[in-house]
Amino acid sequence: MKILITGATGYIGRRLIYSMIEDGADIRVFVRNKAKLERPITQACEITEGSTFDSDKMAEALKDIHTAYYLIHSMGKDGDFEDMDKKSAELFRDACIDAGVKKIIYLGGLGDISTASKHLKSRMETGQVLSAKPEKIQTIIFRAGVIVGSGSAGFEIIRNICQKLPAMITPQWVDTKTEPIGVDDVIKYLQTAGKSSFCNDKDTLIVDIGAEVMSFKEMILRGAKLMGLNRHIFKVPVLSPKFSSYWLILFSPVNFSVAKALVAGLSSETIKLNDNAQKYFPEIHPESYEESFLKAIDDIHNRQVISSWCDSSDGKVCDVPFVHDISKAVFKDRYTEETEGYSKEALFKSVCSIGGEKGWGAYDVLWQIRGFTDKIFGGVGINRGRRDSLELRVGDSLDFWKVVDVIPNKRLLLSAQMKVPGSAWLEFQIIDGYMIQTAFFYPKGVTGRLYWYAMLPFHKLIFKKMLDDIIKGADEFSKQ
Ligand SMILES: NC(=O)c1ccc[n+]([C@@H]2O[C@H](COP(=O)([O-])OP(=O)(O)OC[C@H]3O[C@@H](n4cnc5c(N)ncnc54)[C@H](OP(=O)(O)O)[C@@H]3O)[C@@H](O)[C@H]2O)c1
Repeated sequence: MKILITGATGYIGRRLIYSMIEDGADIRVFVRNKAKLERPITQACEITEGSTFDSDKMAEALKDIHTAYYLIHSMGKDGDFEDMDKKSAELFRDACIDAGVKKIIYLGGLGDISTASKHLKSRMETGQVLSAKPEKIQTIIFRAGVIVGSGSAGFEIIRNICQKLPAMITPQWVDTKTEPIGVDDVIKYLQTAGKSSFCNDKDTLIVDIGAEVMSFKEMILRGAKLMGLNRHIFKVPVLSPKFSSYWLILFSPVNFSVAKALVAGLSSETIKLNDNAQKYFPEIHPESYEESFLKAIDDIHNRQVISSWCDSSDGKVCDVPFVHDISKAVFKDRYTEETEGYSKEALFKSVCSIGGEKGWGAYDVLWQIRGFTDKIFGGVGINRGRRDSLELRVGDSLDFWKVVDVIPNKRLLLSAQMKVPGSAWLEFQIIDGYMIQTAFFYPKGVTGRLYWYAMLPFHKLIFKKMLDDIIKGADEFSKQ
C-alpha cells in the first residue's frame, strides 16, 4: 500500500514521515521544494516536487497511491488564505479521485464552526471540501486543538512567555477551555488511521482528539511549574485583541499575523465534540499534558527537535519558483578574513551555530533592536530562534533569516525574512585559508536604495566584528 504524505516540510508532516519510515511504510512525499528535505527522508522515500495548484504534478504524485495525507495549510500568510486553502483542498480531492486513491486523511482544527475564528473556520472548511464527495472517496478528518511538542507554536509560546514574564496581565480568554494533545499521540492517530479500515469504505469519519480539558490559564501555569517557575496571571476585564497580539509577539517567537490568528481563536472553546477517538482507536491512550510538555523540553535539551512551527515557507522564500539568484543583487558588501590554523569543519560549525540563544556576536544589541522594530512593523522579528542549536538545514528559520543553501564546510546562504524594501541575503563561504561574508541586496525602488545606504554604516560596525567572532568561535569546535 503506497502512501502519499503532503506537507512533508511542515510541522506535522515531517514527524509523520519519520514515524512511518520507522514502521517500514512505502512512502511518497509531495513537496514544493525538495531541497528542504533531509537525507533520512530522501533516502527512504520517493519524492515528487510540486504544488497542489499544479495538476500535472499532483497526478504524478498520486499515481498508485492508496492513502493520501493532506497536511497543508497557509496560516501566517498574507492575502486571501481561506480561498487559497479551499481551492487547494478541492484540487487535491479531485486529483485523488481521478487517480483512484482510496482514502484521504486530514488533520484540522478542533472546535465548533459556529463560534470558530476565521483561521479555525478555514481549517474546518478544508475538511468539508476534502470530504464533499463521499460516494467517490473516503475521508478521515482528525481535529486537534493545541498540539504540545518541541517546536510546536503552542508549546513555544507557553515556554517563552513563562520564561520571560514572572507575571502576566491577560484578557478573560485565559479561562477558555481547551484540550491539548501531545504531538506523538497526534502522529499515532494519523498513522493508525492509514493502516485501518473504518465503517463503510465511503463514510466520512470525523475524529476529535485531545488528552485533557483545561483552561489556557491552567496550561500556562502547569507549563511554568514543569519548568520550575512560579508564575502569576492577572485577568483584566478588557484587553483588545490587537493589544493581546502585540503582547504575544513581544514575549513569544510568533509574528503578528500568527499572533492575531491565535488570539482570535482563544475566545472560543476547542474541546472534543465526539468520542470517535475512543471508539475507533481504543488502543491509543493520549499522554497527559505534563508528559507531553516534559518530553518537548527533553527534545530541546537533547537536540532532537524534528520539526518546528516556522518550518513552512511563510511566503515566497522557499517556494520552488523563487530563484535565489544572488548574482542579480544590485548591492553587495563583502568582508574577507584569513582563517589560518582553523579547519574548514570547525569554521563551518561555528558559522552554523550563530543566532538563536547564542546571539549575533559583539553587537547583538543592534540585531535585537532591528528585530524588535521588525516585529512591531509586522515582520518575523529576531526571537523566532532556531530549531537546533548547532545544525541548520534548508528551510530552517534562523531568527529573522531563512536558510536557503547549505553546502557542508563550504557555504551557508541565508535569505532575509525581516521587512526590507527589497530582497536581502547573507552568505558565508569558506575557501582555502579564508572566510568570506557577503551581504547581497536587491532594492525595491528608491526606498530600497536609500535603505541600503542607510544600513552601510551599521554593516561596517557589525559585519567585520561578526566575522571575527565566528572565526574565533571555531576554537570551540576545533577542540572537539
Ligand atoms: N501544528 C499545530 O500545532 C496544529 C494544531 C492543530 C491542527 N493542525 C493542523 O495540522 C495540519 C498541518 O499543520 P502544520 O502545523 O504541520 O503546518 P505547517 O508546519 O505550516 O506546514 C504546512 C505545509 O504545507 C505545505 N504547503 C503549503 N501550501 C502548499 C501547496 N499549495 N502545495 C504543497 N504544499 C503546500 C508547506 O510547504 P512549504 O514548506 O513549501 O511551505 C508545509 O510543508 C493543518 O491542517 C493544521 O491545521 C496543526
